[in-house]
Amino acid sequence: MNKAWWKEAVVYQVYWRSFYDSNGDGIGDLKGVIEKLDYIKKLGVDVIWLNPFYESPDRDNGYDISNYEAVMTQAGTMETFDILLEEIHRRDMKVILDLVVNHTSDQHEWFLESKSSKTNAKRDWYIWKDAKNGGKPNNWRSYFEPSPWTWDEATEQYYFHSFAVEQPDLNWENEEVRKEIYRMMRTWLDKGIDGFRMDVINLLAKPEGFPDAEDPDHISYLADNPGIHDYLQEMNREVLKDYDTMTVGEIPFVTPETGLLYVDENRHELNTLFHFQVADEMPVMDLPKYKAIQQAWYDGLHDRGWNSQFLNNHDHTRQVTRYGNDQEYRAESAKLLATMLHTLPGMPYVYQGEEIGMTGVRFDSIKDYEDIAMKNKYKEEVEKGRDPQEVFESLLLLSRDNSRTPMQWDDGEQAGFTTGTPWIKVNPNKKEINVKQALKDPNSIFYYYQQLIALRKEQPVMVYGDYEDLSRKYETLYVYTRSYEKKTWLILLNHSDKDQRYKFEERCIGRPVHCVIGNYDRGEAGRMHLEPSILLKPYEARIYEWSE
Ligand code: GLC
Ligand code: CA
Repeated sequence: MNKAWWKEAVVYQVYWRSFYDSNGDGIGDLKGVIEKLDYIKKLGVDVIWLNPFYESPDRDNGYDISNYEAVMTQAGTMETFDILLEEIHRRDMKVILDLVVNHTSDQHEWFLESKSSKTNAKRDWYIWKDAKNGGKPNNWRSYFEPSPWTWDEATEQYYFHSFAVEQPDLNWENEEVRKEIYRMMRTWLDKGIDGFRMDVINLLAKPEGFPDAEDPDHISYLADNPGIHDYLQEMNREVLKDYDTMTVGEIPFVTPETGLLYVDENRHELNTLFHFQVADEMPVMDLPKYKAIQQAWYDGLHDRGWNSQFLNNHDHTRQVTRYGNDQEYRAESAKLLATMLHTLPGMPYVYQGEEIGMTGVRFDSIKDYEDIAMKNKYKEEVEKGRDPQEVFESLLLLSRDNSRTPMQWDDGEQAGFTTGTPWIKVNPNKKEINVKQALKDPNSIFYYYQQLIALRKEQPVMVYGDYEDLSRKYETLYVYTRSYEKKTWLILLNHSDKDQRYKFEERCIGRPVHCVIGNYDRGEAGRMHLEPSILLKPYEARIYEWSE
């Protein structure tokens, strides 16, 4: 497999509005990111992914863009962005931006024009359809609404939106739209950014004729439609191939088979992808399922394309709450999940706050929540006559606000995030969980991440090593090897709150090994020989290394 800088990178995701507020208005901002760059650098990461900060009415926290080439007031100014870019590069890091081109805001000038009349030159830039039998053009639903179709009184047609009413989808069939997007991408790349995280990129192509779905609730019909690969190959030819970028596509509903089509190095589309077989389809840890997913992706992409590893982001509840144990074993399980993500094949992503073991949140009332996906769903279900409290409870675990609460810098009233009133409440556990505390404690989750990330720089086995699962028989133990050239790493993970014994395979027993890293005190960190079995403590993680 070819080497590349981005394959060796660790990405840190900055959800800037919840990161650090530099001016006391309660909203994080780009200047706040600049002020915290030394902190990010201290962790050792290579790339920063910044969520959208473009001009936006902010109905979906910046994913509803009204001007791709301006900065939203809350985030700062273009001058601040330029300084941020320079400061990131000066620290030898890179930055990728969110590219949100499946849809715009309904306040984007293009949509306002498109909507103004049926004969407007930009009418065809969006997807407009006549009513069918006096109703909606088909029976689909959207991510955030019961229907993806909204009626426009003035021009008597429906427009299409995969997400909220305020997020009309662009019509990628229209060549002018594509040209304009490519020009915009070049503008940002020419400024010096290092790549893109491409929002719901497999939604760009729509199915011919918009036929009714058999199961309208299963919205996979929005994704992976014919034509998508032509667009991405065109985007590559017209833009990406001229720059040394990294691209990661957000690709819901993708499987290893369809995923390869996006990242196969010979196809010249994207570098890497996020699939959602875990985040969208595994609400709590189900280790046999997780192993099967890892295996299938490893087999599917091996030697041909590159994967990503993540368990949370701004759309998904914090990993220690969902997949670890955020109570008794918070630190142990946070370190265990980190050990896993940093040693499975693919690029590891760290979502801000993960490195100090921030947890999900449970506010008292729907009024404390801001997430449009959650609020719309709540409204939809309550309108059907369901009990409001029951609906509320059912939405808590997966609310996107779980991961959007302010970064916990210290134990102050607003966790050191702002001197004003934060746009969303701070997690009450800021007293115990915060950066100040983490930096003081040599055993903190933070320093464990720092070690893992530093290891990646010295250890190509973490990046390029072959993967083999040695734990198929175990329900809650995950043990695998990565092997590269003459070196093998054996990763042992106890995903349970009980002691568990693992029996080594014959070929491992007696090997001289040393322990590279572990999340419990490693009494025998020096050289030793593998015994026939090992007893792992609750949420214990260890890595052993041996050479041929
Ligand atoms: C992606 C984003 C999410 C947003 C949606 C619509 O899934 O990550 O935050 O709401 O796209 O743009
Ligand atoms: Ca601010």
